[in-house]
Amino acid sequence: MTEKLTKQSIGVGVAGTGFIGPAHIEALRRNGIKVLGLAEATKEKAVEKAAELGIPRAFGSLYKMLADPDIDVVHLATPNYLHHPHTKAALLAGKHVVCEKPLAMNTTESAELVKLSKEKNLVNAVNFNIRMYPLAQQARSMVQNGDLGDLFILQGSYLQDWLLFQTDWNWRLEPDLGGTLRAVGDIGSHWLDLLTFITGLHVEEVYADFKTFHPIRKKPAKPVETYTGKILTPEDY
Ligand SMILES: NC(=O)c1ccc[n+]([C@@H]2O[C@H](COP(=O)([O-])OP(=O)(O)OC[C@H]3O[C@@H](n4cnc5c(N)ncnc54)[C@H](O)[C@@H]3O)[C@@H](O)[C@H]2O)c1
Repeated sequence: MTEKLTKQSIGVGVAGTGFIGPAHIEALRRNGIKVLGLAEATKEKAVEKAAELGIPRAFGSLYKMLADPDIDVVHLATPNYLHHPHTKAALLAGKHVVCEKPLAMNTTESAELVKLSKEKNLVNAVNFNIRMYPLAQQARSMVQNGDLGDLFILQGSYLQDWLLFQTDWNWRLEPDLGGTLRAVGDIGSHWLDLLTFITGLHVEEVYADFKTFHPIRKKPAKPVETYTGKILTPEDY
């Protein structure tokens, strides 16, 4: 399968077109790759988003997109709880996978996917895009060249303010949908990946202090996409 894939012939399908899915579509197009299919939670949403984003084929579920023989690769930009079942189904259907972070909800699930992709000889990449930033690339080269000598202490932080207000909400806050690791699995996975990418070191143990800043959060009565900028009104709660 891999032999026939070229930039011109490759058939890519993207599942999930909320906040980050459209960024995948743009990145693919900037690399000269045509996006052939789009899968969403419902057929209606898929048709609407496909028209908006100029994608020829719309599917009401990832499983329907996997049945399309012209799709060689799927990009998964869906909420975390779907990554494991969707990646597994895609690999079993013979498709390469680029999955958003985190790859799965726990290490048992992710280990299964790593094993399966090896057995099937298919790509199962996780989108740790921050590695590609020039500063990160330079820092890695400096470590590799020995410019920094021995590393004793690594410090970093990842600042985000979208959960600042008591009314900020999306699926990330629901353990069944986002995972129990919460901020560690969400932005923390980027931070951990970046440090291991730059240094070549691996995490062996973790010591952490957790705090819940808002013991009560106000969940909107209907689902909200991430960072859409929509101003919610009292009627939404
Ligand atoms: N690498 C990064 O920088 C980065 C940034 C943001 C998000 N992410 C990751 O991307 C994923 C999506 O996050 P988001 O912020 O775009 O979320 P989002 O809520 O904005 O979008 C999720 C999309 O998935 C769709 N969806 C839900 N169920 C589906 C199903 N069964 N089949 C197909 N589509 C379905 C939703 O309708 C929505 O369009 C998460 O895993 C998140 O961790 C990564």
